[in-house]
Amino acid sequence: MIKKETIDKVFDAARLEEVIGDFVQLKRSGSNYKGLSPFTDERTPSFMVSPVKQIWKDFSSGKGGNVVAFLMEHEHFNYPEAIKYLAKKYGIEIEETEQTNEQKEKASERESMYLVSEFARQYFEDTMNNTEPGKAIGLSYFKERGFKDETLRKFHLGYCLDEWDAFTRAALDKGYQLEFLEKTGLTIVKGEDRFFDRFKGRVMFPIHSMSGRVLGFGGRILKNDKKAAKYLNSPESDIYHKSKVLYGLYQAKQTIAKEDNCYLVEGYTDVIQFYQSGITNVVASSGTALTSEQIRLISRLTRNITVLFDGDAAGLRASMRGIDLILEQGMNVKVVTFPEGEDPDSFAASNTPEELQYFLETQAKDFIQFKASVLVNETQHDPVKKAATIRDIINSIGKIPDRIQQEVYIRECSRIMDISEEVLYSSLAQQDRKDLDEANKKHKREQKAFEVVRPEPQVEKIDTQQFLERKIIELLLLYGLEEGDFQDLFLREDEDGELVLEPETQQAKVFEKIYLDLQQDEVELSNPMFREVYERLISQMNADEAFSVDGFLNNLDTAIASELSSMLMDDEKYSLHNWEKNNILVKEKKAGMTQLVSETILSLRCHLIDKRVDQLQDDVLKAEGGTHEILEEIMNYHQLKKLLSYKLNRVL
Ligand code: CTP
Ligand code: MN
Repeated sequence: MIKKETIDKVFDAARLEEVIGDFVQLKRSGSNYKGLSPFTDERTPSFMVSPVKQIWKDFSSGKGGNVVAFLMEHEHFNYPEAIKYLAKKYGIEIEETEQTNEQKEKASERESMYLVSEFARQYFEDTMNNTEPGKAIGLSYFKERGFKDETLRKFHLGYCLDEWDAFTRAALDKGYQLEFLEKTGLTIVKGEDRFFDRFKGRVMFPIHSMSGRVLGFGGRILKNDKKAAKYLNSPESDIYHKSKVLYGLYQAKQTIAKEDNCYLVEGYTDVIQFYQSGITNVVASSGTALTSEQIRLISRLTRNITVLFDGDAAGLRASMRGIDLILEQGMNVKVVTFPEGEDPDSFAASNTPEELQYFLETQAKDFIQFKASVLVNETQHDPVKKAATIRDIINSIGKIPDRIQQEVYIRECSRIMDISEEVLYSSLAQQDRKDLDEANKKHKREQKAFEVVRPEPQVEKIDTQQFLERKIIELLLLYGLEEGDFQDLFLREDEDGELVLEPETQQAKVFEKIYLDLQQDEVELSNPMFREVYERLISQMNADEAFSVDGFLNNLDTAIASELSSMLMDDEKYSLHNWEKNNILVKEKKAGMTQLVSETILSLRCHLIDKRVDQLQDDVLKAEGGTHEILEEIMNYHQLKKLLSYKLNRVL
């Protein structure tokens, strides 16, 4: 277990906007930051981060919470993993209470797979740098390719000895279990006591998650063996999903956001060679076709992708198809093609960084224009092919969500391909109709699939009491320690000795007002979570002048903290629409604070009285004689209800 003091230190040091900034491109928006939701596929930002409150809220998925909740949601860490991640980021030493064997065993399966992968990364790196065969074979291979020591360290490159089970034995000696070596694919198990290293005799490229955990490996063969694959990759596993990973993203993410552009290449060595040449905003899809999940990873950091094509014309047409996926996500795509026979790796290795930089800047072409000019050249004297080409281009343009951009492209293509805009437009319209038809069909199919299981449509019932209790907590969190002038009515005797209601203004802190008023009727919140939070808030606000909401949140269970953050951020929703610029709502909110507090308390009290009266009337019906006392109680409640309603009307 991590010691409490360490956790406190971590929370003190961690800045939410910095932590989230590693994953999401954030822009200032008033006193907050906003960005695109990392949990959904959206184009207008609805992800908010409050640096003051140290909470975040994603309005498109409804998720929210503090810094730990973010890491748990985004990186799928558990609580201790999130704390450890933050401790590492902020250079805080982790002090742990001794783990029992039982606790060790309980560490989750995935965690064990991460651990064994991390061990493998270290082992392969160490083997390459510190053993004779490692240096003679692995290291010298990389040196020959021109990789510098610093680069090898940056990407944690390594070597797996050309022996059957040297790695597996080393891992077993260290106490790692065969089960997890097999599950990560590092070891291939063939019956009892027969196992061998998957990556035997290969140089190793560890594949990291966006946050730097080792998920899997690519291993390159060194011998000229026609039968064996040049690259061997870790198999899919609970921790490695190749369609959701981009090689190099961990090393590149900062610069991608900073440069607001991402270079996309094909292979491990392309990434590394570019990085070494100073182009560090580069990632690879590692041999597989680009997936929309991979594009989504990039789109959190930038809206601009530059795709780099090898200099062989054969692959070009096929690769161009994959780019429609990028266009679909509303991203801007540029392309660069390398000279015949060169790939990004070889080009970077044989040119200076300045030459490479210059080449990329001058060669980058807009994708649609590029596609139009390539295709038009190919089909110049073949009218049949030309028609197919137009459909192909229009298909790409059709993927772009933005209508204005579509129009710009239509004009461009009309010029490049020498076809009238009208023809292109009518072709686009045809395409749209086809897409629409397909979408409709798909929708119908999905509906069919759901028909059997779909439950009766349910009208969501709004539970008044829950709503009001939630409102009470919200008011405490937002305004608990603020002073306000509260109007109230008190019974007084006038000169004639008659009882009358007289208004009086009392100054009080919001939490005092709420507590004292609710106490009058001995109200207890019915929702257990709200009740617990209520009691804690009141006692802490009462005891501590320096009470702070983020300190409070940090000591809560993350589920509760997340729920509370939603409340706090609901308040921030206004700034999403830039309404704060007009300063209207903010001022009104403040001025209306006392009114809101009084109104909420009175509404809750009225509601509870109604409920109580209902129950008493039930009792009367069931009672067998002797209903006098119950009826008297009902009368009393009616009186009180009248008084409260009167007050409520005045407040309103
Ligand atoms: N790849 C793979 N499996 C293969 C071949 C290729 O996973 N059998 C992936 C690797 O990620 C590789 C990328 O596809 O980096 C590009 O393949 P290729 O162009 O053949 O390799 P290079 O990166 O040029 O490799 P090298 O320069 O080391 O020969
Ligand atoms: Mn190559």
